[in-house]
Amino acid sequence: MSMVPFIPDSAPFTAEQRAWLNGFLAGLLSRSEPAPAPIPAVEAGQPILFLYGSQSGTAESLAKQFHKQAVAKGFASRVVGMDELEAHALAAEKNVLIITSTWGEGEMPDNAAYFWEALNQNGSSPALTGLNYSVLALGDMNYADTFCFAGKMLDEKFEELGANRVHPRIDCDVDYDEPAERWKNGVFSALSDSKTDEAFSTSALAVLPGHGEEVEPTTASFSKKNPFPATLLVNEMLTSSESAKDTRHFAFSIEGSDLEYEAGDALGVFPHNCPDVVDTVLEAKGLDGHIEVPTPAGTRLPLREALIHYYEIRSLLGDNEKTTLSPAEFVEELRRLQPRLYSIASSPKAHPGEVHLCVDIVRYEQNETLHKGVASTYLAERLPVGDTTGIFFQTAKHFRPPSDPNLPMIMVGPGTGIAPFRAFLEEREATAALGRNWLFFGAQHRSSDFFYENQLTAWLKSGHLTRLDLAFSRDQEEKLYVQHLMEVNAEEFWSWLEAGAHFYVCGDASRMAKDVDRALHTIIETAGHRSPEEAARYVAEMKKQKRYARDVY
Ligand SMILES: Cc1cc2nc3c(=O)[nH]c(=O)nc-3n(C[C@H](O)[C@H](O)[C@H](O)COP(=O)(O)OP(=O)(O)OC[C@H]3O[C@@H](n4cnc5c(N)ncnc54)[C@H](O)[C@@H]3O)c2cc1C
Ligand SMILES: NC(=O)c1ccc[n+]([C@@H]2O[C@H](COP(=O)([O-])OP(=O)(O)OC[C@H]3O[C@@H](n4cnc5c(N)ncnc54)[C@H](OP(=O)(O)O)[C@@H]3O)[C@@H](O)[C@H]2O)c1
Ligand SMILES: Cc1cc2nc3c(=O)[nH]c(=O)nc-3n(C[C@H](O)[C@H](O)[C@H](O)COP(=O)(O)O)c2cc1C
Repeated sequence: MSMVPFIPDSAPFTAEQRAWLNGFLAGLLSRSEPAPAPIPAVEAGQPILFLYGSQSGTAESLAKQFHKQAVAKGFASRVVGMDELEAHALAAEKNVLIITSTWGEGEMPDNAAYFWEALNQNGSSPALTGLNYSVLALGDMNYADTFCFAGKMLDEKFEELGANRVHPRIDCDVDYDEPAERWKNGVFSALSDSKTDEAFSTSALAVLPGHGEEVEPTTASFSKKNPFPATLLVNEMLTSSESAKDTRHFAFSIEGSDLEYEAGDALGVFPHNCPDVVDTVLEAKGLDGHIEVPTPAGTRLPLREALIHYYEIRSLLGDNEKTTLSPAEFVEELRRLQPRLYSIASSPKAHPGEVHLCVDIVRYEQNETLHKGVASTYLAERLPVGDTTGIFFQTAKHFRPPSDPNLPMIMVGPGTGIAPFRAFLEEREATAALGRNWLFFGAQHRSSDFFYENQLTAWLKSGHLTRLDLAFSRDQEEKLYVQHLMEVNAEEFWSWLEAGAHFYVCGDASRMAKDVDRALHTIIETAGHRSPEEAARYVAEMKKQKRYARDVY
């Protein structure tokens, strides 16, 4: 297709100057990156190890996707999580490509914690001289002070230990597709150019027992990039009208999608903004919602519709400065509306063709204005039962019921943290797993906030739940939290740990998960008669054995 040039032939420039200016302006207008240089042919067997740190599965999926592309390009590629590789085994590697997210407040994802510790052992950290590496850091600009911290720390540490950075680190905000692709093309080119190929030995990789390279099957055609339109089947309140909270059970049909999930995975939901909020923004900014603008999907829509479906507008609330921008320029400045993740509350064995969620509906007042969480109120208020919304599955391989059905499991899930444990318990019931099950649940009041009461008490009665400890925080003078009940039952808790129990935590990351972690250490110190250092080592060993897994947000 021929393009109309920006600089006409009649303009007072030489042909060369015209060509350069036309190219430059075309590049500026499309705002696209220059086409990547073609990747040279790969010398046979050039090894790559993709090493991922991932909490909720995004970095893991990317690493696996890039690994497959590397294999297709002729690299001898492998992919492992950071919890599957001893740091000292890096010495035997040649090219390591790190993909990691950041969690908590600038922390490593759980599966990277032990690896990171090993890199930081004074006097015994591995020497990485001769190792080629590059880092792709996933993060979220909303965490401005700790943006992509884990990736930054790993990048610096590898350099400090003598490794050779073959491509600059790329830090990604939530829209990571384009920068991640750019990083992948860059590292593939850099490694293809390398002429230092050596025989590749799989024995060089020290993989921890029980874990090896696994590549997920890619049979499903629906994905985050091509979400499945799932029909909402159920929208049911789990809290009663007296509750201060509005927490709901949602069920979606995934019939006809070919999609599969496992207990422990998360569901991504693509929300729409509230039309009232969009109208408030349009009025405050003095913009006409009827004017058509381009959308990130490559279509054109009236501005109002485009804002409902595609753009993050929460940050604009309360900003009443009239905009001097055209509608098209206005949307160009906005971040793309992101899907929200929810821990799945069902086992596919118990509910074939369905996926269930347990969602706290976010509503709060600030500056005398009622704020509504985009996705949670979309599900609760604006998506009628029978309508569809875009969904995808986020695999969480680290968060599964014990693979040995005879091992006990202890689950701590206050509030919506109950979600994956309903799924775990359904899964263990459906598979007739014999291991003992102990659940700690907490909420504000027994009378109004005891989610899934009938199902949980029936399981307790049938013996499927060996123990159910309930911390209703506001039913007495003093706050009662799940970690208090853990400590009250320290002796028994310790005996379960010593029997090989897997320990799981789900729910609030900012306070609950930290307090529960502290309680775990206290129990090991008191009931297990360990010093604080020994308790820390015991917990580190549990993580290494994948007996301590968290799904916190
Ligand atoms: C792996 C994972 C699993 C998750 N699982 C679940 C789950 O099972 N159930 C569940 O309910 N959620 C879960 N979440 C959280 C969920 O993804 C959303 O973040 C949550 O529903 C809020 O999204 P929203 O679009 O409704 O709110 P948003 O529009 O994103 O607004 C939320 C923001 O509002 C602000 N805010 C909220 N409350 C207040 C307040 N009281 N005062 C001031 N500001 C406030 C905060 O800035 C907060 O970040 C999970 C998150 C992750 C990452
Ligand atoms: N930004 C915030 O301030 C804030 C606060 C709460 C929840 N959240 C978020 O709201 C979402 C959903 O909340 P939710 O309904 O699942 O649960 P939740 O609001 O976290 O509450 C569930 C139960 O946990 C208790 N709890 C509070 N602090 C705790 C702690 N440090 N240790 C153990 N238990 C504690 C609560 O008690 P009390 O309420 O009586 O203290 C309540 O009984 C989560 O994403 C969570 O992160 C945010
Ligand atoms: C509870 C929580 C804490 C997070 N903390 C940070 C942070 O401190 N800095 C940052 O850049 N991103 C942070 N993120 C964003 C994640 O790094 C980002 O969503 C990433 O894509 C997740 O990848 P994963 O699924 O592989 O773990 C946080 C996300 C959550 C849910």
